[in-house]
Amino acid sequence: MSTSSSSAAERNFKREFFKVLFIVFVVLLICFLILFVNKYENNKYIIETLDLNGSAKEGDALFKVNCVGCHGITARGLVGPDLHSITKRLNDKEIIKQVTGGLTPPMPSFEIDPVNMSNLLKYLHSLE
Ligand code: HEC
Repeated sequence: MSTSSSSAAERNFKREFFKVLFIVFVVLLICFLILFVNKYENNKYIIETLDLNGSAKEGDALFKVNCVGCHGITARGLVGPDLHSITKRLNDKEIIKQVTGGLTPPMPSFEIDPVNMSNLLKYLHSLE
């Protein structure tokens, strides 16, 4: 009698254990999926941007609206650093990450579509 009740408890415990294991597994799976989709979206954005041939003039206008407050009207630096010959120090991918990433406060992250990002890159390339 006592053996059968203890084995019932054991079965119960096993069932609970597998339930918890399953939940943990599903949660981890969802986390990995979100990470993967995020990375894929980022790469898609970068590839799309690099495929475009932006306009330095449009980029200049964009820069005047969004960036001069910190980088100065001629991009010679203010709060943020001088951006002349930045394209010699950072590659396009790194610049895209700098502008969209928000990894170096106080510089904010910019939500910018690939066309405008490409224009900005072209403008930065014109500052040699
Ligand atoms: C609120 C101020 C601010 C604004 C607005 C801003 N930046 Fe910056 N930016 C900074 C600061 C500060 C740094 C230096 C960050 C660091 O390296 O710690 C920086 C760094 C950079 C760098 C890297 C420079 C280097 O030498 O590594 C690039 C490229 C850049 N900014 C581009 C832009 C562009 C393009 C815009 C507009 C879309 C912009 N920033 C808007 C403050 C700003």
